[in-house]
Amino acid sequence: MDVLSGATMNFELTEEQLAVRDAARDFAQNVLKPGVIDRDKEQRFPAAEIKQLGELGFLGMMVDPKYGGRGMDTVSYVLAMEEISKVDASTSVVMSVNNSLVCWGLETFGNEEQKVKYLVPLAKGEKIGAFCLSEPEAGSDATSQRTTAIDMGDHYLLNGTKNWITNGSTASTYLVMAQTDAAKKHKGINCLIVEKGMPGFVVGAKEDKLGIRGSDTHTLMFQDVKVPKENRIGEDGFGFKFAMKTLSGGRIGIASQALGIASGAYELALAYSKERKAFGKPIHEHQAIAFKLADMATEIEAARLLCLKAAWLKDTHGNYDIAGSMAKLFSSEVAMRTTIEAVQVHGGYGYVKEYHVERLMRDAKITQIYEGTSEVQRIVIGRSVIG
Ligand code: CAA
Repeated sequence: MDVLSGATMNFELTEEQLAVRDAARDFAQNVLKPGVIDRDKEQRFPAAEIKQLGELGFLGMMVDPKYGGRGMDTVSYVLAMEEISKVDASTSVVMSVNNSLVCWGLETFGNEEQKVKYLVPLAKGEKIGAFCLSEPEAGSDATSQRTTAIDMGDHYLLNGTKNWITNGSTASTYLVMAQTDAAKKHKGINCLIVEKGMPGFVVGAKEDKLGIRGSDTHTLMFQDVKVPKENRIGEDGFGFKFAMKTLSGGRIGIASQALGIASGAYELALAYSKERKAFGKPIHEHQAIAFKLADMATEIEAARLLCLKAAWLKDTHGNYDIAGSMAKLFSSEVAMRTTIEAVQVHGGYGYVKEYHVERLMRDAKITQIYEGTSEVQRIVIGRSVIG
């Protein structure tokens, strides 16, 4: 796959991109870091922090300013996601879902009324969105939707259950995939905009998770929810394509989250290796530790390049489906390897909460699971390379 042929390669970031990265770094270090250990322990959603993040424009980064966004490029989004994720992946998943799934999906495929009504408050960070595709029996196999949206003329009657929904109880606007015509299989699926408070919409149990414990993951139940016809995104039967196209961009966001988790753990390990002495010298002077740091730095740089390339393709209107899957597959595996090694560099200290790396190790795992498991990314990449 030679996606770069004919293009000019430029690795320099613009002043604007660097300013976005620095603003995200400041926010992460000064606002997110102080409470991150407690939020993880208590499974507490970062409500005040998300509000501030919205005010700074990080929840609608790529949305056109005429719809309340900041009109930034995807490269800036990757840089910001990395910085926020270095410190708090529970906050960055909210940012990722809102930006690349909900706002991007609405802006790209919604009609003008839907954009004015739903996109504007989401892009301004006044409201949060959720993307509802996964079901008890439809995770990786996303075409097997059991939730139904029966066409009743002027509205759809929505019934079913969605699982593992990020922002499940904190969102106000939900993009829900549901089957309208089972005979048409995936071509009978629609995406409906569902509002919190619609009668019959119930937010179920909150998940008690291994990682990203500050994020708000729920089961959602829909029992005869009447969703107006005008809340359908796109033509009848467009819902599965909508989900796939939206997830292609979403994967760049999760790849950058994984990158941030890895680079956060690496920076902590590097700093610790300079402070900690063993056998008469700082531990980074022992080759056993220096080689670990060298491997971490190399893999992180490769992951960063994959993330930025996928973002650049998206910004230059190239095909970023495969690049996004490659970035997510590789970065999430680097996040796992790096965080495990960062704990090892810290020794016993790495195993306790105070040193942050054990949380990053727990947070890393989800990046190999959501928005398509590593196996799903290999399916997508494999089909492309094999043809
Ligand atoms: N863009 C546009 N269309 C696409 C597409 C893409 N990236 N990928 C697939 N499609 C289209 C295909 O062209 C095909 O359309 P036609 O029938 O018109 O040709 C249709 O979708 C079906 O595609 P496949 O035959 O490839 O479908 P499949 O059943 O073999 O499955 C899959 C493909 C890649 C495994 C897909 O089901 C998938 O991505 N599964 C994972 C779902 C996922 O990522 N879930 C994450 C939940 S959201 C989440 O986690 C958010 C959060 O809270 C953090």
